Amino acid sequence: MAKKLFNCISAKQFDRELLLELFVLADKIRVICKTKKGADFLGNLLSHKRATLFFEQPSTRTFLSFNNACQILGIKTSDIRNITDLSVSKGESIEDTLKTIHSYSDLLIIRHRNESIASNISDIFQNSDKPIPVINAGSGSDEHPTQALLDVYTIYRAFNGKIKGKCIALIGDLKRSRTIRSLIYTLTNFEISKYILISPDELKAPDDLIKYFNYNCITYLESNKLNDISEADIIYSTRIQDEYDVNNESKFIDYTKYYINKENINLIGKNSIILHPLPRRLELSTDIDSDPRAWYWKQEVNGLWIRTALLAYIFDVGKSISKYYKNKASKR
Ligand code: NCD
Repeated sequence: MAKKLFNCISAKQFDRELLLELFVLADKIRVICKTKKGADFLGNLLSHKRATLFFEQPSTRTFLSFNNACQILGIKTSDIRNITDLSVSKGESIEDTLKTIHSYSDLLIIRHRNESIASNISDIFQNSDKPIPVINAGSGSDEHPTQALLDVYTIYRAFNGKIKGKCIALIGDLKRSRTIRSLIYTLTNFEISKYILISPDELKAPDDLIKYFNYNCITYLESNKLNDISEADIIYSTRIQDEYDVNNESKFIDYTKYYINKENINLIGKNSIILHPLPRRLELSTDIDSDPRAWYWKQEVNGLWIRTALLAYIFDVGKSISKYYKNKASKR
C-alpha cells in the first residue's frame, strides 16, 4: 500500500509506490476525459468540494492547471491572486486570512514567497476541527513538489517507464530554483545514474543539495560548461530566478553560455529529451521547439493530468476512476 498523502508540502513526501500510482492514475484520467461520458463521470466525482487557489507569487501554468484539474473533477474554485484585494491591506494578519479561507474551503492550494507558510498552515488546518488538505504550489525558492510530479511523470512517459540508470543534466540557476530541489528529491526514488549540475559559478547548487547528494551516495558532477550536457539523457533547463536578487546581482552573470539553440542542440544525444518548468526566457530558443527532443510543451500538458490525479488521490476517488477505466474507457 502506498503511503497516504493528505497534504502535499514537500517532494520528500513522495515514495516510488505513490509516484507510480499517480502516474498510472493520470494516464487513465487523460483517456477517460476524451469522451463526454467520461468527462461527465469525472466531473461528478468531487462536485461537493470547494477549493481556494491562493497565489501570492506570479503563475501561469501552475495556477491554470490546478484550476482546470479542479474543474475536471467538479471541484468549485475561488482564487486569490492579488494580495492587495484582501483584507490584509486593511491590516489583517495572513494567519487570519488563511483561517477565513479554511472556513469556506475543502482544499487550499497555495503559492507563497514565504518558504514555510504552506507547511505551517497545513499543521494548523490538520489540528483544527475540520482538517483540510494543503497543497504547496511553490514556496519561495525552496520547493515546488507538484512541478516535480509533472517533471518525473514526463520522464516516465518519455522513456516508457524506464527511469532507472538515466543521467540528468540540471542547468541554470541551481542556487535558487525550487523546481530543481523538488525534482532531485523526487528522482531519488528512481536510481538516476548521475546528475550533471551545470551553472554559472555564482549560481551553483546550494550546500543543502550537495549534502543531500553526499548523504544519499548519489553520483554528481559540478560544471560551468554547457558542453557537459552531451552525456545526459534528460536535459533540464531553468531560467535565472532574479526575483530573489538582493542587489540586482543577476545582471552581472553571463547566462548566455547556458542557452540552447539550433547551433548547439546537437551537443544533445539523439534519444535525449529537453525539459524546462517554464516560463522560459532565452535559455531555450524558440527555434528548437519543433525538435523531437523538445519535450517542454508536452511537460506542461502533463501538469494538468498529474495534478488532476493528485487531487483525485487526496480525495480518495482514485479507485472509482480505475474501476470506470477498467469497465468503460479501456474497452473503447
Ligand atoms: C516555475 C516556478 O514557479 O518555480 N514555474 C512553474 O511553476 N511552472 C519555474 C520558474 O518560475 O522559473
